[in-house]
Amino acid sequence: LIVVEGPGAPEGFAEGVARRLGADLVKPVYKIFPDGESYVRLPGRLEGTVVVVQSMYPQQDKRLVEALLLAEASYGAGASRVILVAPYMAYARQDKRFLEGEPISIKAVLKALGAAGYDALVTIDIHKPESLAYFPGRALDATAVPQLAEAVRGSIGEGEDIVVIAPDRGAVRRAERMASILRAQHDYLEKHRDRYTGEVTYRPKSIDVQGKTVVIVDDMVSTGGTMARAASMLLSLGARRVIAACTHGLFLGDALEKLRKAGIEEIYSANTVPVPEGVKPVDASPAAVEALRELL
Ligand code: R5P
Repeated sequence: LIVVEGPGAPEGFAEGVARRLGADLVKPVYKIFPDGESYVRLPGRLEGTVVVVQSMYPQQDKRLVEALLLAEASYGAGASRVILVAPYMAYARQDKRFLEGEPISIKAVLKALGAAGYDALVTIDIHKPESLAYFPGRALDATAVPQLAEAVRGSIGEGEDIVVIAPDRGAVRRAERMASILRAQHDYLEKHRDRYTGEVTYRPKSIDVQGKTVVIVDDMVSTGGTMARAASMLLSLGARRVIAACTHGLFLGDALEKLRKAGIEEIYSANTVPVPEGVKPVDASPAAVEALRELL
């Protein structure tokens, strides 16, 4: 078993996978031609099963093409089977034709990865796990929630009353999973519109957060708008403090500042993408390895 560290692998991720699987770690030569095209070269023969670790953010398009090249190179170097570990799967949010004439982008991407030769795929907390049906082989969606929960546990004091909240109903299963690990209650924020003023507020569906430490968990922080809004609402409802945890922390533009201004004390992000300073990194490679073991 060989683990190939793609140029898009988050720092330490491929090492973590190789170490846990007892596999050899291979680092390809990587460069960009003067015209901007990517070049990869695997050092030596790779026989048996090859696991390529390649996340797809930032530079989604480049990372995707490198993933295609690494599959072809692996078979060329002697691999009998090639599996992709993509901790962050690009294009996952365009999972339907919102407007006529649009592509189902994730369908195109997953079909291309299958056509390149990947016969199985592991990703982490993909936007909609149902999208993985577009991949022609076996595809598993691992979750970094257990790792995030263990990390967050380190910030919780003895006897502190905590609740785990999802910013919307769609994320409630993540909140439920984290809450079960932290032995806490969970809930999600529900949208309310004042019929007279039109003002929109968000409140937990059934839990009172007064005096409690709230952990908000989501799959992704992109502009930070969702997480910041959720934190402000919960603090205004009397939460004692707010901790944020996400799998894919993109933190675009002034997202981190927005989160701080909203009163979030601590921010945790899994290392599916580069984790910026000021955010506590959480190693999600154990989640990928657990899924990989099902495929090996
Ligand atoms: C939405 O479906 C996702 O779970 C996230 O809540 C969303 O992508 C976060 O985006 P932003 O940080 O831009 O509000």
